[in-house]
Amino acid sequence: MRYTNENDWVLDQFLGSGTTLIEAKLLNRNAIGVDINPNSIKLSNQNLNFEFRNGSKIFTKLDNAKNLSFIKNESIDMICTHPPYADIIRYSTSLKEDISHLAYNEFLEAMKDVAEEAFRVLKCGKICAFMMGDIREHSYVRPLGMDSMQLFINAGFRLREIIIKEQHNCRSADYWKGKQVNFLMLAHEYIFILEKISVR
Ligand SMILES: C[S@@+](CC[C@H](N)C(=O)[O-])C[C@H]1O[C@@H](n2cnc3c(N)ncnc32)[C@H](O)[C@@H]1O
Repeated sequence: MRYTNENDWVLDQFLGSGTTLIEAKLLNRNAIGVDINPNSIKLSNQNLNFEFRNGSKIFTKLDNAKNLSFIKNESIDMICTHPPYADIIRYSTSLKEDISHLAYNEFLEAMKDVAEEAFRVLKCGKICAFMMGDIREHSYVRPLGMDSMQLFINAGFRLREIIIKEQHNCRSADYWKGKQVNFLMLAHEYIFILEKISVR
């Protein structure tokens, strides 16, 4: 609500089950949701199948966040999205172009394209918000959040805020219970608020 007005166009290019589009519909924003996985599009369409008094325009599309050529340059008022965290959770078994199958470095290469597409479609002066967490590999932290954020800055965005979201009831907590480990649980994620300013 802070970054959009009624009838603005919101984009979520990692649609999942459709949370962003549901909120857009409830808040009288128009929205486009993109996902590479047909199951996600089906689930989102089901979740969006409710009557609401306003007349928001809501679209879902099976497509790739790395190439949103069906969206015109500088036509979106806000991006609000939640990409996979490299390959820690896979959202499909073997879908080509599903970036949740990519290991750390390949994932960041894909996110570079995602960031550049986000920059292209967003209007100047508008906000791109995305959520991302860090990951552990072989007990060491890999700063996926900050590395992803940097790709958006490299694409031309300016960083407005870093919001820390506490993560309760982490799924991996049960796995580590009772085990002798010498590291702390990763119990937060980031929401990066980036602005597309007119001069890079
Ligand atoms: C973290 S989930 C999104 C969760 C979402 N916020 C929700 O409300 O459920 C990430 C999504 O990214 C999708 N995805 C993976 N690679 C993609 C790509 N190249 N283009 C678009 N979507 C992709 C996955 O299919 C998955 O649905």
